[in-house]
Amino acid sequence: MKKILIVSGHTNLNNSFANKIILDKLAKDLPEAVFDYLDKEYPDFAIDVKAEQQKLVDADIIVLQFPVFWYSYPSIMHRWMEDVFEHGFSHGSRGKALLGKKLVASFTTGAPEEMYVKGGPQLYPIDELVIPAIKSTANLCSMDYAGYVYTGGVSYAGNPDEEKAKEMRAKAEKHAERLEALLATL
Ligand SMILES: Cc1cc2nc3c(=O)[nH]c(=O)nc-3n(C[C@H](O)[C@H](O)[C@H](O)COP(=O)(O)O)c2cc1C
Repeated sequence: MKKILIVSGHTNLNNSFANKIILDKLAKDLPEAVFDYLDKEYPDFAIDVKAEQQKLVDADIIVLQFPVFWYSYPSIMHRWMEDVFEHGFSHGSRGKALLGKKLVASFTTGAPEEMYVKGGPQLYPIDELVIPAIKSTANLCSMDYAGYVYTGGVSYAGNPDEEKAKEMRAKAEKHAERLEALLATL
């Protein structure tokens, strides 16, 4: 059976709506997967590089689960990547630790999906904003980019009413199901 590592890049899951629902459902449905909650492990951002590298080495499939912050990963996931993806480990002529592992992106945005169209309110489609860096990372690290699952319009910031919150919960649960379906094909 393929070993799945799900890395949560949310900076504070205690304040999360969508990512928490997604991660809770994944944890229930994929009990054999390893969950790496960066905010809980490293509230001070002091990443244990060796421990994180070992988690990557042990996995066949790596899922990056995060809310999009400023069109990219949240700060703690950036820090994790900067520290853990070392030259000589993940890339470089002797850095082959991630060779052939599958990389999946799973993320949410506050802005609705229809805003992410060319020339629209967010200027670019989501797969031109968030995906290129992930694809290039996979390429540099000899990993297999295996696709993404995305859900927009799940911001809790606007104090959604009960109806809206119900709709967002359903979207987040559906997101987890879509990710599980993708993982089942890998
Ligand atoms: C610091 C910060 C930056 C954000 N940047 C974006 C952004 O660039 N695009 C967007 O659509 N939403 C943005 N959002 C909204 C989040 O993506 C949204 O609240 C999140 O995906 C919902 O997941 P959560 O409930 O797990 O936090 C941002 C939110 C915060 C707090």
